[in-house]
Amino acid sequence: MSLIWDGFPCRTACFFKESFIILSSKVLGMELSKFKDKMPAVVYDLLMQEGIAELRPSQWKSIDAGLFDGKNLLVCTPTASGKTLVAEMTALDAILSERGKAVYIVPLKALAAEKYKEFKRKYGKILRVGMSIGDLDASDNYLHSYDLIICTSEKLDSMIRHHTPWLSEVSVIVVDEIHLLNDPGRGPTLEILITMLRRMLPKMQLIGLSATIGNEEEFASWLGATLVHDTWRPVELKKGIYLDGEVEFYPEK
Ligand SMILES: Nc1ncnc2c1ncn2[C@@H]1O[C@H](COP(=O)(O)OP(=O)(O)OP(=O)(O)O)[C@@H](O)[C@H]1O
Ligand SMILES: [Mg+2]
Repeated sequence: MSLIWDGFPCRTACFFKESFIILSSKVLGMELSKFKDKMPAVVYDLLMQEGIAELRPSQWKSIDAGLFDGKNLLVCTPTASGKTLVAEMTALDAILSERGKAVYIVPLKALAAEKYKEFKRKYGKILRVGMSIGDLDASDNYLHSYDLIICTSEKLDSMIRHHTPWLSEVSVIVVDEIHLLNDPGRGPTLEILITMLRRMLPKMQLIGLSATIGNEEEFASWLGATLVHDTWRPVELKKGIYLDGEVEFYPEK
């Protein structure tokens, strides 16, 4: 049995021994050029250089919701729908317009290393990209000279407790996989972290990213953020039952 979890009711998955979901693709987007006047020229040029021809729904809806006006956003769109670029555009805008640093919070060290590599490749020539995932007892003052800093929530929590001076220069905080606030193990740290950051940095722009939040409106309201919701996914999910070599798809609703 091959099962891809994405909000598919668990009971159904267990009931049909060979229930599964298969994938097919569909393209949807808005030409980047249509947003030229809605974004800073330097960000537009960087996206062009990266070969971005179209903006995906998560991205253009975020722009329309005030990404470049300093609005807090909670972006809830499916897996692989392009949420990272929403965070990148926000960080680039803040850093290149000299409003301040951007901190990108991820739940795992491995994910931090992956994002660090990706951002360094894309923006290493124009931004100083740093990563902080090490010793929780260190205040990492050397990060003072970096623009875009990737770290885990535990590490940022520890830096706040060490009164790390450069934190006062942060103007954008991105919380990737923000639904982990609901995680029994890591959730409390993340919740306290967001609460402390909002108090410490009342002018910061907060961008929360997630593919799996049930109570999006309630969560957005707690964050003081505008909700960006969309269901488009690059790979469509189809649900069906596999039995004796045959697939029967559930009817489209
Ligand atoms: N506008 C775009 N045009 C082409 N490719 C894009 C665009 N936006 C994002 N991508 C690519 O889509 C892929 C998935 O994007 P991303 O990792 O940001 O998804 P995500 O929404 O964060 O997914 P997840 O919820 O799984 O973390 C990446 O390889 C990214 O480079
Ligand atoms: Mg992501």
